[in-house]
Order: sequence, then C-alpha cells, then structure tokens
Amino acid sequence: MRILGIMGSPRIKGNTDLLLDEALRGAESAGAEVEKLVVDKLRITPCREYYQCVKDGNCVIKDDMEAVYTKLLEAEGIIVASPIFFYGLTAQLKALIDRCQVLWARKYILHRLPEATRKGALIAVGATQGKQLFDGAILTVKYFFKSFGVEYVDQLLVRGVDKRGEIKKHPAALAAAFELGKNLAQRLS
Ligand SMILES: Cc1cc2nc3c(=O)[nH]c(=O)nc-3n(C[C@H](O)[C@H](O)[C@H](O)COP(=O)(O)O)c2cc1C
Repeated sequence: MRILGIMGSPRIKGNTDLLLDEALRGAESAGAEVEKLVVDKLRITPCREYYQCVKDGNCVIKDDMEAVYTKLLEAEGIIVASPIFFYGLTAQLKALIDRCQVLWARKYILHRLPEATRKGALIAVGATQGKQLFDGAILTVKYFFKSFGVEYVDQLLVRGVDKRGEIKKHPAALAAAFELGKNLAQRLS
C-alpha cells in the first residue's frame, strides 16, 4: 500500500520535516511504500479561478500539479504535515490544496471520483500554546481530504516548538509521529 507524505514547510530538516520523516518511517515499518513531496520545491501556481475544472475535471494551468493529482489519487494513505503560519497552513501548501478544486469538481460536479476508501492524517507544529492554534489547519485539511474521498482518521498537533530542529528535544512527539504513520499503514492493510 502507498502512503504519500506532503511536507508543507519551506524549512528543510525543520520540525515538520523531521516529524513527517518519522511518520513515514513508521508507515514503512508496517509495510507501506512511502513517498515524500516537498511542496516548496514544486512549481505550483495558486488557483486563478478559470473554472475549466468544473467543465471537464482538468486545470488549464500546466505546472507540477499535474503530477501531484496523480500521486494524490494513487495513494491509499496521505499524511499532510505543516507548521502553523498565522493560525493556518503555509501558503505553499494552501496553493496545492486550492488547486485540488479540480478533484472537488471531479467528485461533486462530474461524479467521477469513487467514494472514500482511503485514509489521511495531519501533523502540525506551532511555536505557541494558543488554544485554537490548530483549528484553521484542521478544518482546511479535513475539507481537503473530503474533496477527493479521503477519510480524516488521525492527527498529531505539537505546540511550543519553534527553532529549526527543536523537535529533536521532544522525543515523545517524534515517537508519536512514528506511531501515527505505523497506525495509518495498519489501518490500510
Ligand atoms: C510566517 C510565520 C508565521 C507563523 N505563525 C505562527 C502562528 O500563528 N502561531 C504559532 O504558534 N507559530 C507560528 N509560527 C512559528 C512556526 O509555526 C514554528 O516556528 C514551527 O516550529 C516551524 O516549523 P518548521 O521548522 O517545520 O518550519 C510562524 C512562523 C512563521 C515563519
């Protein structure tokens, strides 16, 4: 079974990246084939509302999203990982998600996507302790998953981590990320 990790931070080897690596290692330990997409390295234009997608399920913008659509639809499991930027996901990740209006259109307008048989999880990390720190990210990722038939089954939310790689001082969070990946793979097998 295939699990796709979507790394939404621009900071390589930062907290999100390290947590996602652990989750993917956990998934691999349970027999999954894993792949990590580093969104910041991709060429993804934000949605321009051309609305071709509601007519034929395709986007007129030709960029790296073409390959991303295929990867999203081929994965049985998806892990979205992001730092919190202003109580939401990063702009890079939000651009990818907005371009998935294509998948939303295929599912809800053109009725061309099958019902949910796939599962997804969110990993998010922020610097502060705010009670509502993850509310925006959770809502966006839940609705993103729903738009192409992925059931939101798990989340790991880490507060109080800021500097690059500071997550290494939180072994419990890294262990929880490993478990999240392993559990997701086990749920799918
Ligand atoms: C543009 C920007 C906005 C941020 N906004 C928030 C925020 O609203 N709340 C918060 O707790 N941390 C915020 N942070 C801190 C990051 O979430 C934190 O440093 C995180 O550990 C970065 O993860 P990374 O190493 O994976 O990039 C922000 C950081 C940046 C650069």
